[in-house]
This record gives sequence, C-alpha cells and structure tokens, in this order.
Amino acid sequence: MRAHIGDQLIVESPTTGATKRDGEIVGIHHDDGTPPYDVRWSDTDQVTLVFPGPDAHIHPIGDEPTRQREETGHRGSATTRRGARSLSEAVVMALVEDATAAPSMHNAQPWRFQYFRRRRVFHLRADLRGALPHSDPELRALHIGCGAALMNLRVAVAHEGWEAQTRPLPDPGDPMLLASLTLTRPLRDEADPGALYPAVRTRHTSRYPFDEREIPAPVQTALVEAAHREQVALSFVSGWHLQSVVDLALEAEARNLTDPGAAADLARFTRGADDTRPATEGVPESAFGPRRRVGNAPMRDFAGGRTVPGRPAADFETLPHLVLLSTSRDRPVDWLRTGQAVERVLLQATLEGLSASFVTQALEWQDLRWPLRDPMSGMAYVQMVLRLGYGPPGTRTPRRPVDDVLDIEP
Ligand SMILES: Cc1cc2nc3c(=O)[nH]c(=O)nc-3n(C[C@H](O)[C@H](O)[C@H](O)COP(=O)(O)O)c2cc1C
Repeated sequence: MRAHIGDQLIVESPTTGATKRDGEIVGIHHDDGTPPYDVRWSDTDQVTLVFPGPDAHIHPIGDEPTRQREETGHRGSATTRRGARSLSEAVVMALVEDATAAPSMHNAQPWRFQYFRRRRVFHLRADLRGALPHSDPELRALHIGCGAALMNLRVAVAHEGWEAQTRPLPDPGDPMLLASLTLTRPLRDEADPGALYPAVRTRHTSRYPFDEREIPAPVQTALVEAAHREQVALSFVSGWHLQSVVDLALEAEARNLTDPGAAADLARFTRGADDTRPATEGVPESAFGPRRRVGNAPMRDFAGGRTVPGRPAADFETLPHLVLLSTSRDRPVDWLRTGQAVERVLLQATLEGLSASFVTQALEWQDLRWPLRDPMSGMAYVQMVLRLGYGPPGTRTPRRPVDDVLDIEP
C-alpha cells in the first residue's frame, strides 16, 4: 500500500463493503508512501497514527478540479472533477450560489450557510430576516424554501463529484440549524442527484399561461418518483377535487388582497420598476407575469391589486395541471423534506421541458389548508400546491450575493 498526502483512507466492512470510516491522510512516515499514516478521520476530525489493516484501501486524490475551477471558473468534466482533495473557496462559493438559486416564498431567501473546511461540512441555517411574520408565522414556508436550497446543494455537491451525508435538524438544542451536509468521500458513479444539475440555474417560476396539453404519463410518474425519493407524496389533482383546490386558492387570494398582514409581507418583498432598494431579494415586476383575464389558474397577484403600467392581461388554462405534495406528519422535519421534494420535482420538471409556478395561497390560511387534501389519500398534510404545464420559462429573479449568506470557517 502506498499513499500521498491528501489521499483518502477508506475502511470498509468486509461483509457489506459499506464504508465504516474514512479520513484524509495528512502525514506520511516513509518516503515511498508505505504505512503508517497520520489520518484525520472525517467523523471526529481527530488525527491518529494508523497501520491500515486488510479492510482498508487508499483512494488516490488529485486536486485537478480545484485548479480547473480556479483557472476557468467552471466545473471539470465528469472524469476530471472526481476526487477533489478539498474544496477551494471558489468551489465552496459556487456550490452555495447553486443552493441559493432555489425558490423561496416572496424570494425572501431565508437562509445562511457555513462551511467548515477541515471537517468538510456545510451548515444550513434559517435567516429570520427572510421570515414572513403574517403569511408564515409557523415558519413552514421558511423551512420549505431552505429545504429547496438544501436540495440544490445536494445536487451541486454530487455534480462536483462528492458523496454527501445530509442530516436534518442535527442539533435539537438549535432549531434554526436546519441541516448539516458532510462531504464523505468522492462519488462513485451514481447519477443521482447530480444529473439534475443542468436545471439548477435554468429553473424559474413561470407565471405565464400554459398550454392545455396533457402531461404524458411517464413524465407524471417521474415527478411522483422524484417526490417519493424525499419521502413526500405527490398527486395530480383532477375532477371535482381540482375545482375545489382552485376555489380554495381563489378564496385565499381574495382574503390576501384585503388582509393588512399579507399585504405588508408582500409590500416588503415586491419591487416596482422605480424602487431604489438594492435588487437582491423580492419579486421584481418583471416576474409578476400577466394579469389573468380568463381561466382557472389560481395565480398570486404580486401587484396586490395595484395597476402596473404596461402589464399585459392574458388567458390562462381552463383546466390547470395542479399537484399536491403531502406528508403524513406536520413537523419542521416534514417541511424540510417537502422543500427538498419540491425542488427535486421542479428540477426534474425543468429537465422534462415543463414550466411551473406555486399556488400556496390556501396553505397560508389554517381553515383553507385542511380542505385542500385529497380525501382518498388518508390523513396527509398538504404542504405544497404546484401548477405545471408546457409554457414559457419564468423570468430570472435576483439573489443576495454569496458573500452575504456564506461564512467559511477553518
Ligand atoms: C414556500 C413557497 C411558497 C411560494 N408561494 C408562491 C405563490 O403562492 N405564488 C407564486 O407565484 N410564487 C410562489 N412562490 C415562488 C417564489 O415567489 C419564487 O420562488 C421566488 O420569487 C424566486 O423566484 P424563482 O422561483 O423564479 O427563482 C413560492 C415559493 C415557495 C418556496
């Protein structure tokens, strides 16, 4: 056995082949690279002197991807990107930028990230400056937005060539630490979830009318499976239930227009063309989409009933394709799961050529949320309503600079 500094020592279970422990070789005692080695274990961050046994092998690591990213600003190909020894600052920043491309209610971006270099761990924290006190007093939507950012981070990390272990709410004493994501070892050849990567930056909420065209059954199945992978149920709404979901959203939308709290949340995060606040958050007029002239697509009116000069009107779908995402319980961990499922579904939908928008108005009113559920699906809690269809892609919305949302620690 020979190793170089920076290689990974992997100890596997002789029966299952599963990794029992892994660590980075940080010290070599012989010039020819033979054992023993000083190993920094990924689980404890402690360095010990190791004489590897027969259950251990070396995973050689090169730093090609880091160099490539720094030189070109782009990720390497599938072959060269695997096995980065550690992440350079540029790579960490690019990964967090991918995470922040996620959707969040009113584009409030209620997240912060920390990256602990030595342990190769990301922490995702709630940023309460992005909380919506009237529309989201329980922080359910905040958790969903952060869950979506976590999904993007998982996708980006896999695309970068790393296997990662995600733990939701890892510290019971710190509920605003929403998740940790540890880079465990270079990824073998799994395509999931890295294959979703091309959609991370092209997915945008589309508030345009969609075609009435059917969504083919295999595409519907792929979306159901995408949610299922995150332990969330996705169902397409049809028949009388579709009309009922549309009616509940329209009722909620009407309430929002006259509710001072909902209006205050909206005003804080919508920006007119003449707004002088920095354009790093909120929904700009360019993303409002047209006013609904006819049709049953229950669109949130980000203009809050105001007339926006030059905003066109359009005919929306008579029978919109709506999906419900539901969980069997209603705890913060279920909301985080929902966020990951929502983003997985949206990325998959984007790759399938579908556009999507959110229809969450009824979820913001306790008395309207419960009747949203499909009576056939048991006692599930509806966490999200999405509208899907073939139509124009959405408009890009602003994000805070990565510097503002990321701390890199030793
Ligand atoms: C929990 C949640 C609720 C949302 N509710 C709505 C909604 O009711 N109507 C809508 O048009 N967009 C809704 N959105 C979408 C956000 O407005 C959108 O993600 C944000 O403006 C950023 O734009 P992007 O998705 O194009 O990146 C919601 C997003 C999340 C995560």
